[in-house]
Amino acid sequence: MWQTRLATASLLLVVAHALNCPENYDDFGSGCVLAPAERLPALDAQVLCRELHGELATFDRCDIFTDAVHYLEETGGMNDSFWIGGTYSVTRDEWQWRDGSVIAMGAPFWGTADGGSWEPYNGNCTVIFYGDNPYMRAYGCSLDFNHICEGPPNVEGHCNLPYTAVGSQCLSFNTATRQSWQISRNICQEDGGDLVTFDNCVQFGIVANYILEHNLQYIDRYWVGGYLETWDTEDWFWLDGSSIPMGVPLWGQGSGGKLLPDNSTVERCLELGLEYRHRFNDLNCQELRRPLCMASPVE
Ligand SMILES: *[C@@H]1O[C@H](CO)[C@@H](O)[C@H](O)[C@H]1NC(C)=O
Ligand SMILES: *[C@@H]1O[C@H](CO)[C@@H](O)[C@H](O)[C@H]1NC(C)=O
Ligand SMILES: *[C@@H]1O[C@H](CO)[C@@H](O)[C@H](O)[C@H]1NC(C)=O
Repeated sequence: MWQTRLATASLLLVVAHALNCPENYDDFGSGCVLAPAERLPALDAQVLCRELHGELATFDRCDIFTDAVHYLEETGGMNDSFWIGGTYSVTRDEWQWRDGSVIAMGAPFWGTADGGSWEPYNGNCTVIFYGDNPYMRAYGCSLDFNHICEGPPNVEGHCNLPYTAVGSQCLSFNTATRQSWQISRNICQEDGGDLVTFDNCVQFGIVANYILEHNLQYIDRYWVGGYLETWDTEDWFWLDGSSIPMGVPLWGQGSGGKLLPDNSTVERCLELGLEYRHRFNDLNCQELRRPLCMASPVE
């Protein structure tokens, strides 16, 4: 019967919004980027990005990569070449993003060199847009190129206690005793917020990593603001009524690596769980978890 209560509860307005990027950074749809007008070797480019509170950009997903290319096309950037944060690791004999994750070879990221051989062809650092080539190619790290820095999205304004700024959201990792989904939701509302929702993947990643970095995983399982609405469909919704994308990268994996959700008959509320690397799991709404709350920033 909790669905009836959900329908009649006054929903917090969760307005879908653009990212709030740090000063001088642009929102390119999947994150915040800045392309300083300076041609530098790759290592110096990374140092300059750090000075600008960023890192050399990581475009490690198909949609992020595509957004970045479109951004450069729209801003006239495709006439330049840019270092991004991919390097060859001699010890591991593989290409890696800055965080050590492997750069997949071939399409969709890498282009072809003159004569049609697959990039990466020659060099230990990664550039995009060289001549007419909108894909990645390898170059010697000591060459001078422009570069693209990536900065973390910010909260606009500040967060009232008990909320803390995490990326672009004000969050409260409530340590109250574990409760059902509905009672957890009420706890958030008493603090002037609601269960957290995510409208972009970058912010979702920031929150998941924040939990790990701040040792909050002792509170290993949270309720978040998503639910399965009706009994006859498999459509998951955020509290504002927008739909939750299925699959990668939000949902965790159950037994055998199979993507969740996996039990729509009884598991109709959304959990963020340590055992799924802080990705989503479908769970019975009466199970006991702690609330992960969010509130609107104040000026
Ligand atoms: C980029 O190059 C194209 C074709 O060479 C040219 O038409 C365009 O004006 C250039 N854009 C900028 C911003 O320099
Ligand atoms: C890549 O790095 C290795 C190890 O530092 C070096 O021996 C090699 O010459 C580099 N390759 C290029 C093309 O710069
Ligand atoms: C679904 O969840 C219920 C309750 O936790 C459990 O008894 C049942 O075995 C689960 N079914 C599947 C297919 O996992």
